[in-house]
Order: sequence, then C-alpha cells, then structure tokens
Amino acid sequence: MATYLISGVSRGLGFEFLRQASNNPANTVVGLVRNKTATEKKVSEELPDRKNIRLVRGDLDDYVSLKTAIDETADITGGALDYVIANAAYMSTWSAYDPLGVLGKQPEELEQDLLFSFKSNVIGNIHLFNLSLPLIFRGRVKKVIAISSGFADADLTAKFNIHDSAPYSVSKAALNMAVAKFSAEYSTQGILFMTVSPGMVDTGLHKDATPEQQQKIGVLVEKFQAYAPHFTGPTTAEVAVGLMLSVAEKASIEAGDGGSSVSQFGNKEWLKAGVHVGQVTIGKDGDNVLNGVTVILPRHPDDIYIPCYAGMYTLNGNGKASGSYQIADWGYTSAVRPSPHSPLCPQLLDFPGKFPLM
Ligand SMILES: NC(=O)c1ccc[n+]([C@@H]2O[C@H](COP(=O)([O-])OP(=O)(O)OC[C@H]3O[C@@H](n4cnc5c(N)ncnc54)[C@H](OP(=O)(O)O)[C@@H]3O)[C@@H](O)[C@H]2O)c1
Repeated sequence: MATYLISGVSRGLGFEFLRQASNNPANTVVGLVRNKTATEKKVSEELPDRKNIRLVRGDLDDYVSLKTAIDETADITGGALDYVIANAAYMSTWSAYDPLGVLGKQPEELEQDLLFSFKSNVIGNIHLFNLSLPLIFRGRVKKVIAISSGFADADLTAKFNIHDSAPYSVSKAALNMAVAKFSAEYSTQGILFMTVSPGMVDTGLHKDATPEQQQKIGVLVEKFQAYAPHFTGPTTAEVAVGLMLSVAEKASIEAGDGGSSVSQFGNKEWLKAGVHVGQVTIGKDGDNVLNGVTVILPRHPDDIYIPCYAGMYTLNGNGKASGSYQIADWGYTSAVRPSPHSPLCPQLLDFPGKFPLM
C-alpha cells in the first residue's frame, strides 16, 4: 500500500501514471490537475470504480493553488505521502522544431517561451517539492520523482546535433539540477530525489504539426537512430510508465540514486537500443569460486518475444548448454539467454521454460 501525488494527470503520461498507480486498490492516488471537472469526467469514463483516485486542482504557475492542492492532499492521505511524481510540464510546440538561431529571429517570442518553460518546469516544481516535503517526511517510502527528458543531456545534444526544443531542454536540464540540489539537502534525512525520463512517447504533442514540421521531426528521428540504431519510433505510454515506475520503486539512496537523472531503463540509455547484456554474481562454490550469470537479451526487453536469427559457436564446455539445442535446431531464438559461469547455478532452475539455459 502506497500513497502518490502525481501532477499533470489530465492526459498523456500523467493519466497513465494515474491508471497504473491506482491498479492496486490498496494505493491512494491523488492527481493534480488544472481542470478538475474535465479530468473527473475522463476518470469516471475510462477508470470507473477506482475509489482510490482523488483529484485536486493546482497549477504549477500559481503558488497559492499548489499550496491549496497540497493541503487538500494532506486531508485525503492523512498528512503523509510515499511518492511525489512531478510529471506535469510545459511542452512548447512553438520552439519544438527550430534551433535557437532561428527562434532568435523572434526575440520576444523566444524570451517568453524560455520564461514559460522555466516557470512551469523549474520554479513550479521547486514550489511543489517544498510544499510536499512535510508530507513526504511523514510517508513510508519517501521518494520524489521528477519526470525529465533525454533532451536535458548535454553530451547527447552535442554529439548528435539535437538542436530541437531548446527552451524545453534548457528547463529540463535546470530541473535535473534542482532535483540534485534537493537531494544534496535531504538525502541524509532519507528522502530520495531523482529524475526519470520516459524516452520518446507519442502523447499527441505533434498532432497538429505542419508537413514542414513533420519533416523536421523526421530529421530528429534520424538523429535518434544514429544514437540508438534499433530505435524505430515512439513507444506507448503504458510501456514507458511501467518502466519508469519500476525504476522509481527499485531506486534507493543506498544504491546511489539520490540526485541522479536516469532514463526509463534506470541508466543513461535514453532511447530503446537493441541487445542488452547483464552480469550478476549470485553465490559461492566453496571458499574461492564465485557463481555468476550473464544474461543476453538478443533484443530490447520490450521485444524479447520477437524471434531473431541466432547461431551457436563453441562454448567453454563448463556451463549448462541446454538452450543451445533449440538454437542449433531452429536457427533463431525468442528467449533470454542466461549463461551460468559454472555448472552449479541452482537459481536459474527457478525459471524453467522462461529462461532456457544455454
Ligand atoms: N512524451 C514524450 O515523448 C516525453 C519525452 C520526454 C519527457 N517527457 C516528459 O513527460 C512528462 C509528461 O509528458 P506528456 O507527453 O504526457 O505531456 P502532455 O501530454 O503534454 O501532458 C502534460 C501535462 O502537464 C500538465 N500541465 C502543463 N502545464 C501545467 C501547469 N502549469 N500546471 C499543472 N499542470 C500542467 C497538462 O495539463 P493540462 O491538460 O491542463 O494542459 C498535462 O496534464 C513531461 O514532464 C514531459 O516533459 C515526455
């Protein structure tokens, strides 16, 4: 059982956060929205009978409304919160398609766009965090998760010439720093602050894009593909939110996550890439020999059940190789390939059929 405050639940990823967090009837989920009546209607139509959802009115650009929203949240949850998920954001379409040099030809509009982005995405969230902190202190889980963007990664931006959505990107980079500052202040008191990014998700931002703007999105997607060659396009809100909630649940101050900015995969991989490899030590054989497992996902975890061509080469002759018969026989694989580093890895046998041994 957990209590959540999620901002921006009227649509897009926020509504999906609301849906997934309220799947468990033992959770209490408070959604912060600007238009309460419209969102109540949407919730009653699309998530009927969810008695664990409550909505409060609040605008990131209006401190007084945020204060009232937090007071109402405290009344609903008994004065405590486990999670704050700061999802709401100002996402400008005006500055989404052109670089700063072009936007700068309209200096007043550019200045306004920068100020709007900073006011909502940085100042609004700083107010939201400060106002929520007394509730978070009384919560059990004590996690403040801000939803950020891979666009805030300066290295990615510079290396792949990603000049789009500059005011938004600047505001998200500032949000990452604000979250790091909150972490620096509160991690010693047990409060985890971090940002998580969703990857590219189609939530309708570009639905009114002109043909010229769509062509610019195509150029951006090509840059994304240069960065992540297996990237094929936006993922769904359901997948992105499921991954982000999983990152938020697993993250801890003890694991070093305080103040970090990570993707939906819990690392700096901002978009879906292909093969994944992971290794873990799972036990000991006697005094000196460690048991470990290397897991190879031939595709991205979302696509693990799509078969891909595979071949077999000589193994070290020391581990179990039962999964190899399927590869030799079929010439493709559609499964995770765990490879025990020694013949004795009993933990793997907990997954018969799901993780065939190789
Ligand atoms: N979609 C993506 O590909 C993507 C990629 C990277 C990061 N993100 C991040 O993921 C989060 C959600 O994105 P999304 O695509 O779901 O966005 P979205 O569909 O545009 O929804 C934005 C939400 O924020 C709310 N909001 C905007 N300004 C607000 C304000 N001043 N006060 C309160 N609420 C406000 C909106 O409420 P109204 O209905 O009242 O306007 C709406 O609920 C954002 O933080 C975004 O930066 C998204």
